[in-house]
Amino acid sequence: MLLQNHGMTRLATAIGSFALNNPVICGSGEPVITESGIRAALRAGAAGVIAKSVNENPAGGRQLDKADYVRLDGRGLPTSGQGVSLFNRSGLSQRDTADWFASIAAIDRDARLDGAFVAASIVYAGADGAVRVASLARRAGLRVFELNVGAPHAAEAAPGAIVQETDPARLTELVRRVRAATEGMQLWVKLTGLSSNLPALALAAREGGADAVCMMGRFMGLIPDLTTFAPVLGTSAAYGGGWALPIVCRFLALTRKAAGTSFPLMGTNGVRSGEDVLRMALCGASAVEVLSATMHEGFGAISRMIVELDSFLTERSMTFRDLIGRTADGLAGYAEQPDIPGRWRDFVPPETISDADTSL
Ligand SMILES: Cc1cc2nc3c(=O)[nH]c(=O)nc-3n(C[C@H](O)[C@H](O)[C@H](O)COP(=O)(O)O)c2cc1C
Repeated sequence: MLLQNHGMTRLATAIGSFALNNPVICGSGEPVITESGIRAALRAGAAGVIAKSVNENPAGGRQLDKADYVRLDGRGLPTSGQGVSLFNRSGLSQRDTADWFASIAAIDRDARLDGAFVAASIVYAGADGAVRVASLARRAGLRVFELNVGAPHAAEAAPGAIVQETDPARLTELVRRVRAATEGMQLWVKLTGLSSNLPALALAAREGGADAVCMMGRFMGLIPDLTTFAPVLGTSAAYGGGWALPIVCRFLALTRKAAGTSFPLMGTNGVRSGEDVLRMALCGASAVEVLSATMHEGFGAISRMIVELDSFLTERSMTFRDLIGRTADGLAGYAEQPDIPGRWRDFVPPETISDADTSL
């Protein structure tokens, strides 16, 4: 398989006891809604694939028929070009869940021979359904279950189709129930980007028995079309991009501080290069889930990121694991910074600083 043995030791990482060949996981989404998409992501060298999410409520699958997408350029404007950012409303897999899980479990068995994996994923509609779907994943023989409690579309989708959990106590209870149904599996919880409570939610997921958390989901946006004055795509929609990476990095670092270094974190939202994989790792991520880059440039984006990451590490004789959390562990508060009186003057228009103003 392409890149299978590429920099194996340098790039190796793990989510707790679950070993990965490298830190680049292909995240859940339309590119991996088919078996051939999943196999292509694995061929590109992905450490693993989170297969397109299912949902126990048929309304989630029906939402896929209303899904729409537009590529945005670096200024956040719709473009007919490749784009750097996606603005979309999405839906969920329409496949029968048991059939889908049987099929991805077969790919997981092949992937395992190469040290890779395929995970089942749910964007859930309710706790009972999440438990039922988790049991199906376990029965299919899958090794990893990702429970997405933070899909950005929850507020806009048909009522009851998607739930977003931002309450720590309820999250612990949900994870505890799903944990009971996923004995022996890895249970990863994907958290919302639409809360500032990420460290508390991560702790809540851990308390419920999660093996790791992934953060953070995309944001919601509204783009006015200056020709029609209507909303682009007709609705609010999920919005991500490279611009989101510093926000994710901060929450990774804060969560590492709150949860300690032994609770595995994964980053998602904004990774576009091998250097971006490293940025998230420096803030505490043991691996990342990338998706939009594959929609902008194909699954080759995954191979590119792995090569970029490997070059960075080779040039410095470092291993990926050496770097996890290094920036997070040096993160200080404002009060600890040295005084730099008058520094603000370098960042204001000249008129702000008048000779006559003696108060400054
Ligand atoms: C079109 C599209 C569909 C997605 N569908 C899912 C999904 O079904 N389940 C899920 O957990 N995340 C889903 N995501 C989120 C991605 O897995 C990923 O976490 C997010 O896009 C941020 O990473 P990125 O900047 O690399 O795209 C979707 C994202 C996009 C753009």
